Parts: sequence; structure tokens; C-alpha cells
Amino acid sequence: MSDFESECACKSGEGEDMVENEEIDCRKNAAAERYTISRAEKYVDEHASAVSKKYRCIYHAMPPIGWMNDPNGFCRAFGKYHLFFQFHPYSAGWGPMHWGHYETEDFVKWKWKGVALAPDKEYDKDGCFSGSAIEKNGVMYLFYTAVKGDVQRQAVATSENGDKFKKRGIVIDGEKLPENCSRRDFRDPYVFLSGGRYYMICGSQATGGDGQILLFSSDNLFDWEFSGVLRKDSKPTLGIYECPCFCVSGGKDIIIASPQGYKTDDWRFENAWSSIYTAGKADFKNGSFLPDCEDEIDGGFNFYAPQVLTVPDGRVIMIAWMIPGAIESPAAADGWRGTMTLPREIELKNGKLYQYPVREIENYRKNHVRFENVSIEKDTVLNGVSGDKIELLCDIFVGKAKKVGVKIFESENNYASVYYDGESGKVVFDRSQTGIALYHDENEKDAAVRSVKVDLKNGYISFRIFLDVSCAEIFINGGERTMTGNVFTKENGKGVSFFADSNDAKIVSLEKYDIVMI
Ligand code: FRU
Repeated sequence: MSDFESECACKSGEGEDMVENEEIDCRKNAAAERYTISRAEKYVDEHASAVSKKYRCIYHAMPPIGWMNDPNGFCRAFGKYHLFFQFHPYSAGWGPMHWGHYETEDFVKWKWKGVALAPDKEYDKDGCFSGSAIEKNGVMYLFYTAVKGDVQRQAVATSENGDKFKKRGIVIDGEKLPENCSRRDFRDPYVFLSGGRYYMICGSQATGGDGQILLFSSDNLFDWEFSGVLRKDSKPTLGIYECPCFCVSGGKDIIIASPQGYKTDDWRFENAWSSIYTAGKADFKNGSFLPDCEDEIDGGFNFYAPQVLTVPDGRVIMIAWMIPGAIESPAAADGWRGTMTLPREIELKNGKLYQYPVREIENYRKNHVRFENVSIEKDTVLNGVSGDKIELLCDIFVGKAKKVGVKIFESENNYASVYYDGESGKVVFDRSQTGIALYHDENEKDAAVRSVKVDLKNGYISFRIFLDVSCAEIFINGGERTMTGNVFTKENGKGVSFFADSNDAKIVSLEKYDIVMI
């Protein structure tokens, strides 16, 4: 444990001393004093109830108030699942990063547990950036990036009960890095156990700008050694591979990461911020990864920094942040911004990553409505099929239609739509008619329309769509592709109608459930 260094240059064996010394240091540091857990929690307690419910989702995790970004520390410990997240309680914009903490037993109901980390140490005074968590011998370890000025280092905090977290200091700093790695863009540690040894992968930038993923290894979670560059960009990014994580599915090793600024590639990477999976064969002992397939994870508007967790029944669960991106969020005026996706089960089959909504959501289904064999005309409205907190499952026969699909969140003047476009062979998610201003990053396509290429199955397309007040998640053809987006509509519409431009298009089967939180 000789290398467990911190601002106080303490050894890991003397962790307790180190924490106390740092606290004295912090008292001397005015900036660090500005942010504490108790101040953040007090702020949440005093202000969260005033946040307007207008655009708040009911079954997606959101910040109680303020800003949320990346999922962090998604883990199982003390008999529950924990989800931490990048949190700035004091405004609906990004700011000095804290970690907010939710606990769940079923990935649907989120219990607010308070603030786990605040940037209250000298070494993390500019932010506790993203990271991961792992449980070992009844202790939960939170790994995060401690930011101080231009320097990013990896730090750890521990907890014996999931309520109180004790910072234990820096575990990896720039000295462990090869010469050609940035000390400034070195973040988002994801820790996992493989073959009896702990590994950490971290986002990094090589000198010269290429994104890469670094690998470290450890026996005890405190002493880490550099074990190689596990992955380099397959194409140029505008920055680093953010938030890498790792899982195994379908007999393959899978690295998931969010490369900043991939250029649009035909219909992929239409957002400035997108996430990819790369499946292949990892050899962590020797620090290598041989990729054999790669793709964008989600083709919608808002999906970033996914993190995965393998749960005891073998499922790999992934949750991502609906990065606000190209939309003027009316929720910001209400004092919050940021939503997580529904956790998804993922599975690699024939080189493709399939995604399914976590099955526990089905326990919240109410008011089942079913239709079969309905011809779709212009604006087909079906009895009992409406709502803004619903699940819709439909199999549609496309026939000669050039456009066939469904309008969601519909009101007199506004709607968003999801449809199959026969001319391009793509599913299109269109939010140009929501009545809410859109703008877009200069590095992305536009802010109104996203599309993904999909093959019809014997002339059919299937959609499984989850609506939750201000977001939609669309699972296409049994999870073969997904499209995720914030949808803020001016009139908070709840209507659903189907449309087609050919009268042989038909809904072969349609099911609708309300999602009701019990
Ligand atoms: C990704 C990210 C991470 C970083 C965090 C800071 O959205 O930029 O790389 O740790 O957000 O909030």
C-alpha cells in the first residue's frame, strides 16, 4: 500500500489520519468550505418541494432540484441497488459537482438518500466528477475523479452502511501515467473485478488529442498500477472517451464509452454527444482488447454516459443520462434539469447490442387496452389509448406506406412523432412540432429529427414506447435499436394518434398500459 497518496501525502494504512489532516487543510481553504454535504442537503430539503411538477417524470430518476448529469456508482451493496449521479443542487446548470444518491430495490422506484460526496477537500475542491462503486467485504468503495484546477486524479471514498461516506484520498495521480497522457483529461474511473483482480478503466486523452481508455489494476482497491492503454479511438474525437465502463454479454467483453464529438456518420452519431459499445476480447492481465464489432448505442436525441451493472440474476442493466443537448429545457425555469433513462437490460446477440426496458417496470402497468387489426387512416385515435405516462406496444404492417407511425404527446397544436419512413428505410423520431424552441450544437445535425436504419421484419415494424411527461424511450423491433429523447411540449399534450399515407397500413396489434407509481 505504499502509493496511496493524497494532498496530505499520507499512506493508505494511515487513512484515518489522512482524512483528519485533510479536514484541517480544508478549513484553511475558503473555496473548499463553500461546498459541504450538509449545506447541499439543507438546500435540497428547503427548496425541492417548491419545484414545479409540470415537466417532472414519474418513473425516471431525476434530481430533486438542480442539475443532474452522468449516472455514477451504479452498484449493489447492503442488499439494495444504489445509483449516484453528478449533481449540482444549487442551479439547473452544471456547477461544482457533488454526487447525489438514490437507492432502489427494483430500478423503478428511486428513494432519495441525500448527497454522498461534496467537493469539500482541497484535492477535489473543483468537483467530484464521475466514477463508479464496488462492494468488497461489506464496504462500499466509491471511485471518483477529484478535480483541482487543471488536474484530474482518481480518488476513493468508503462507506460501511451506504449512508455516510468517508473520503480516503487520491489513489491515482499523474505520476502513474505514461508521458503522453493528459493529466487534465483523465477521468471517470470504472472499477470491476475480473479473474480475482480489480481493474479500473479511465477516460483519457493522449497528447495530440486522441481519446483513449487507460487500464489500471489492484489487489486491494487502494494501490493501483498502470496496466496499459486498453483502447484507442477508432476514429477521431473532439476530446476524450468519457465514462468508460465494462460488462460481459453473449460471450463477449464489452466496453461502453462516450467519445466526445464523433462526427456524424451517415445516420449514426447525429448528436454532438453519443455513446458507443465495442464488443471483443479483453485480456486485462496483459492490458489488451481486441475489438470485433462496434456501434452507437442509442439513435435518439439524448443518451449519454451510460453505466452498466451486472446483477445477481445475471442480467446486465444499463442506465444513461438523457443529456439535455439540443433543446431549450423549460424545466430549467422550474429549477431542475436532467433525467436518467429507464434502466435497460442489455444483451449482445450476433454482434448486436439489444436493449430491453428493465422488466420490473411491468409491475407498474395498469389499465390495459388492446386492439388488433386496425386500419390506419389519417389520424387514427383509439379509445383508451392516450396519456403521457404510458407504455405502448405496437406491431404495424407497413404495406405501401411511405410514412407510418404514431404521434405522441399530442395536443391541439403540438406533438412529437415516431414513424417508419419507407423511402429511407429509417425510423424517424421527430420533435419539430412540439412548440418548444430548439437549438443545436454546431457539431451536430439539427435539433428536431433523428433517425436510425431498421430492417422491416416480413413487412412489419414494431415499437415499444415509454412516455413519461417530458421524455420518450423507443425500443424498435424487439430492442434491436433504441431512440431516446426529452420531449417538452408547449401544451403538455397527452394525445396519441396513428397515421399512415397508404390505406393498406395497419396496426396488427396494439397494447397500451398506464404506468402508475404505487
Ligand atoms: C460526462 C462528464 C464526465 C465528467 C463529468 C463531470 O458528462 O463530462 O467526463 O466526469 O461529466 O460532470
